[in-house]
Formats: sequence, C-alpha cells, structure tokens
Amino acid sequence: MKFKKKILCIGAGYVGAPSNVMIACKCPDYKVTVVDINPQRIDAWNSDSLPVYEPGLDEIVKKTRGKNLFFSTDIDNQIKENDIIFVCVNTPTKTFGTGAGMAADLQYWEKTARQILENSKSSKIVIEKSTLPIKTALAMERILASGKGDITFDVLSNPEFMAEGTAIHDLENPDRVLIGSRETPNGLAARAQLVEIYSRWVSPEKIITSNIWSAELSKLVANAFLAQRVSSINSISALCEKADADISEVARAVGMDSRIGSKFLKAGIGFGGSCFKKDILNLVYLCHFYGLPQVAAYWESVVKINEYQQERFITNILQSMFNTLAGKKICILGFAFKADTGDTRESPAINITRMLLAEHAEVVISDPKALGNAAVDLAHNEGRISYIEDPYQATAGCHALAIMTDWDLYRKLDYRKIYKSMIKPAFIFDGRNIIDQHKCFEIGFNVFPIGKPALTRL
Ligand code: NAD
Ligand code: UGA
Repeated sequence: MKFKKKILCIGAGYVGAPSNVMIACKCPDYKVTVVDINPQRIDAWNSDSLPVYEPGLDEIVKKTRGKNLFFSTDIDNQIKENDIIFVCVNTPTKTFGTGAGMAADLQYWEKTARQILENSKSSKIVIEKSTLPIKTALAMERILASGKGDITFDVLSNPEFMAEGTAIHDLENPDRVLIGSRETPNGLAARAQLVEIYSRWVSPEKIITSNIWSAELSKLVANAFLAQRVSSINSISALCEKADADISEVARAVGMDSRIGSKFLKAGIGFGGSCFKKDILNLVYLCHFYGLPQVAAYWESVVKINEYQQERFITNILQSMFNTLAGKKICILGFAFKADTGDTRESPAINITRMLLAEHAEVVISDPKALGNAAVDLAHNEGRISYIEDPYQATAGCHALAIMTDWDLYRKLDYRKIYKSMIKPAFIFDGRNIIDQHKCFEIGFNVFPIGKPALTRL
C-alpha cells in the first residue's frame, strides 16, 4: 500500500508509543513506525504482552500493528525513510555535574538530534514531544544546522499532556493540542503539516498554536500547576487533622467555586509519577538560571510539601502503632503511583516502604499491575519484603495495611474478611481516602484517613 505520509517516533515509552499508536489509528493512510534503542521494549511492543499497561491500548495496537503501525530497532534506516519525526525519548532529572538533582538530563535528547543529522538524506520536520527546558528547540536547531548538506530541518514543539491510566482517552479527546513553531514561512508550513495530522480527530478550536518557546514552557507550567493543586490540598489536610475539619468536605466546598474547579483537589500521600517532580525541579532550575530565586523558591515549595506529606504519613503510622514497627507486618496495598497503570516511577509507595523497612517492619507489597516494577524498585533494599498480588492473602497475618494507590479494587474489598485474618488491634492507614472508613471502624479496625479525624478505639 502506498502511504500518504510516513511518520517516525523515536522512543517507545509511555508517551511515544501510545501517542503514535493513536496517530496510526486515526490516520490509516499514514505509515507510523516507532523505534527504540531498547530491543526488549520493541520485542514487547511486537508481542501480545505490551510493555505498558493502559486501558484500551491493547485493542488499538492489535487493530493497527502490521498494517500501518510498526515497531523497530533500526533507528538509522527509519530516520532515512521518514520525513516527520517525533522525538519522545526520556528526559530525566540530571544526577551528576552542574544542575544535578534539578536540571533535565538532555543526553538522550542530544544523542537523538545527532543521529537524525547523521542519517538524514532529505529535509525533515523534527517534533519535540518529550518535556524539555525552554530553549531546547534552539539547541536542536543548532545541532541539525551543523550538517554540511543543503537539507533543512524544521523543529516544532508539540508537548504531550496525556496522563497515565487514562492515556488512550486523553489522546483521543485532548483538552488541547499545542503546537509551537518558528514564525518563519518554513516554520509555519511545518506547523500546518502537524495541524493536518491532528485535525483528523481533534476539533480545530482545540488545536492551538504558539511560538516555540511558549509551547515548551507551557508544558512545564501545566505540570507545575497540577502538582501545586495537589500540594495545596495536602498542606490543608495537615491542618484538617489538627483542627477536626474534613479535607473531603473542604475540597468539595472550595472546588465548587467555578473559578477554582474541583479537579486535582484529592488529598493523599502525595503525587508520584515520572514527571511532576522532575518537571517542577526543571522549572526551579530554569528560574535560578534566569536569576529569579524568589520564583524558584515558590515552585520548590510544591515539592517540599509533597515530601512532607509522606513524612507525616509514616510518622502517623509509627506513633499510632505504639512507636515501634520492629517485627510488625505491614501490607502496602497498591504500589503504582496512581490507579490503572503498572508504572511505579516516583511512586510514594517506594519511599513509604523504605521508611517502614528502616523501622525494621516486615513489608508485604500487593498490587494488581505493578509487582514486577516494585520488585525492581526495591531490589537493593535490605529487609523482609514479600510480593503477593491477592489482597486477601497479602493482608492475612498483618498488623496494619496502608493504601497507597487508588485502585478501584481496594474500595470494594471485603474488609470484614480482611479484619478477621489480621493481628489485633488492626490498623488501616488510608493514604488515598478511598475506603468506607466508618464501616471499617465499625468492623473493628482503627482507621487513619488523610485530612480527617482518626477513627480509633485506642
Ligand atoms: P520512557 O522512559 O517510558 O520512554 C523513553 C524511551 O526512549 C525509552 O524506551 C528509551 O529506551 C528510549 N530512548 C532513549 N534514548 C533513545 C535513543 N537515543 N534512541 C531511541 N530511543 C531512545 O519515558 P516516557 O514516560 O515515555 O517519557 C518520555 C518523555 O515524555 C519525557 O520527556 C516525559 O517528561 C514526557 N512525558 C511523559 C508523560 C508520561 O505520562 N509518562 C506524559 C507527558 C510527557
Ligand atoms: C501528569 C499530568 O496530569 C499530565 O497532564 C502530564 O502529561 C503528565 O503528568 C506528564 O507530563 O507526565 P500523570 O503523572 O500520568 O499525568 O498522572 P496524574 O493523574 O496527573 O497524577 C499524578 C500524581 O498526582 C499521582 O500520584 C496522583 O495520585 C496524584 N494526585 C492527582 C493526587 O494525589 N490528587 C489529585 O487530586 C490528583
């Protein structure tokens, strides 16, 4: 079949693969190829057991793979063959040298830029989809312009706003698609080509265009604002616990103000995921770089409150359980950073587990999708850890259970049955406020919610 356009995605991770699977699905006349340096990942994308769990993803991969969607490790040849390239490689926080612990590590990004330059025999549109510091497109342009030939490269910024667990829904029904470009004739023509792709399924008023630096910065700012709401409500949850208010009631009352809105006001053990912390720290680093220490301190406090929320949670467990956890068995219900994903990157459960192990507790980890990743995250931790998927088996014989992920499954468990199998007095620390806390108290548990008075007989 002759395809109308050929699109390449470099980086077959949580963003690159699903976002390009969606393009393949919506544009059957386009050939979409997703490449990665990691052959195991590509093998998994070509298998029946995909490397990323997302509701609805399996179905659209099955519908398109082998027709107009392909996964490959042959990066060099694919760069030669394709004219539109999405770059979706990882951009983690730098762990070494200048900016360690804050700035974005751009080594994978730069390697890709050089690889595009080396292998290109024709002009290309190169699209930043990874989340990047402002002005990264300039670095990309400079690298690509350093070649000897007369081919040209147009760099666009098209940050991705999908969230894990709802990726397919978000990609299919985005709140907006943002495309930043140079305002030159070439830049505008490149932008039009990308608009044409999204127009296949996104209505025109939701496809917004901007200058390239605004697009890069908007992505960091969107994540910073979302994380800030979580930290804001979590900071108030600490006050509620002291002053007998109920954080769910406060969030409801505050969120009904249409100027504030009700989303992202759910108190819990803090935000996780690969991006919020990394992107805020990146923003903080940029503010310092541009000589704005007050602005940097403002955003850094969002991360500090997130850490404080986890420390509060563990202190609460320790104090409620008579100031010693040594030898006690505690079940962590949920290890993923949020429901409907197997992703555990920056999951609060990692820190909480480590703090429990430091107190010499024995920890049982349970999760419907994330046990493999949990075992990797905790591989180098000393202490007694076991991994049991079935929540009833996992909680049996435990002194306490701590809910770390808002899996729907945990709302619906038979807590009477669980209570019977646990050591008494039995404790629930509901880090997501998802269970019927009063009912569990009536069953016999001592219940410790977030941002609400504890329900305890002790
Ligand atoms: P990821 O680690 O899941 O995937 C990145 C992939 O890039 C990996 O498979 C890696 O092997 C591959 N890669 C690295 N260097 C490469 C190279 N030189 N050539 C080919 N492949 C290479 O990361 P992710 O979660 O998909 O995130 C990617 C980017 O998207 C980040 O900048 C992130 O901030 C951003 N983002 C992520 C999400 C999310 O929900 N995870 C949402 C929006 C934006
Ligand atoms: C987030 C953003 O929502 C996406 O728009 C963005 O594209 C993505 O980051 C990214 O750049 O990677 P994601 O991290 O997948 O998506 O998930 P969220 O739903 O934003 O949740 C992040 C964390 O905040 C989770 O740990 C979640 O449990 C927590 N959270 C969220 C709360 O504690 N309370 C809330 O009210 C909402």
